[in-house]
Amino acid sequence: MTLIQPHGGTLINRYHPNYDVSNIEKSIEIDDMALSDLELIGVGAYSPITGFLTKKDYDSVVERMKLATGEPWSIPIQLPISKEVADTLEIGETIKLSRNDVVYGVIEVEEIFTPDKTKEAENVYQTTELAHPGVKKLFDRDDVYVAGPVTLIKRVVDGEFVDYYYKPEETRKAFADRGWKTVVGFQTRNPVHRAHEYIQKSALEIVDGLFLNPLVGETKKDDIPADVRLKSYEVLLDQYYAKNHAFLGVFPAAMRYAGPREAVFHAMVRKNFGCTHFIVGRDHAGVGDYYGTYDAQKIFSNFTKEELGITLLFFEHSFYCNKCGNMATAKTCPHDKEDHVILSGTKVRAMLKNGEHPPATFSRTEVVKVLIEGLATENVKV
Ligand code: ADX
Repeated sequence: MTLIQPHGGTLINRYHPNYDVSNIEKSIEIDDMALSDLELIGVGAYSPITGFLTKKDYDSVVERMKLATGEPWSIPIQLPISKEVADTLEIGETIKLSRNDVVYGVIEVEEIFTPDKTKEAENVYQTTELAHPGVKKLFDRDDVYVAGPVTLIKRVVDGEFVDYYYKPEETRKAFADRGWKTVVGFQTRNPVHRAHEYIQKSALEIVDGLFLNPLVGETKKDDIPADVRLKSYEVLLDQYYAKNHAFLGVFPAAMRYAGPREAVFHAMVRKNFGCTHFIVGRDHAGVGDYYGTYDAQKIFSNFTKEELGITLLFFEHSFYCNKCGNMATAKTCPHDKEDHVILSGTKVRAMLKNGEHPPATFSRTEVVKVLIEGLATENVKV
């Protein structure tokens, strides 16, 4: 049963574990970000993309947030290599893609080009400042892009959360098996605090299921590590969510911190996983003050409903109001700021790291306990 069409109409499958690489000599070492992209292309999470983007697609994505074929796509998916490595490659050949000498896939080299990274930064991140972690990453990576279709041979499954890796075809089946006709996707790189819980459950009032899909790929150093977060999601779902209306699975992509552009990317990927709805709240995928609070909602007006093919659910900044005695937003609460429990991410991480409990009106006590215990053993710089 199909809940929703994948982006571009066909769910891509380029995962072939029996692919024979014995006749391929050349191998290039790829970084963690490229490795996670290889995995996500292979399993179809990035449908209709079948490989690292050629110049035509890359230019189109950077300039107009669409693939050359017209589907919305807002983040370039690229494989950077050094000039020295580029000089050793030939167009048309197939090359192994390795990480720490383990082969994870192959690429058919279709094109090699040098991107204008300043333009990429300006368009995708709206800044060229290296203080922005996504821009820093962009410029730290190699300067030449190799493009072409890929085949995933070995999946990148982190042993710690092995049970939570699903291919889009598997999540689609899991949703259908539960009888869900409508599913809301939720992206997060944080523990689920009360504000997250509030917008998820508000959405759940109008759809059948919640797909809690935390990003577990590369994040910046001061974000809470994925293994600690995973335990907190388990505890929260177990104690506060209706069992047959929530489903947890990880999203192994790297975080780009591209705010609005990343929100569009996140929505398209969740459509591929089978979500009919997607939540975008306050400063989605933002960092520092680079983006306006609701820019990640406004950006969707650049596309038609048909192009997007998934229903966006936009939420205002949510908080617990002491006077209302419940979660609220400026739309539902008439009280002053002093009555609202609002804590910055930095402040909360510092509290947790010091073993201090943020109030239960900010985060469930059970979640806080798991986070404090987890962070005590992790080297997280806050
Ligand atoms: S993100 O980088 O993965 O977007 P985060 O985990 O903080 O960061 O947010 C997950 C989702 O919840 C995003 O859609 C974000 O906009 C939304 N969100 C986070 N905090 C709030 C809040 N207090 N009120 C409303 N929406 C929020």
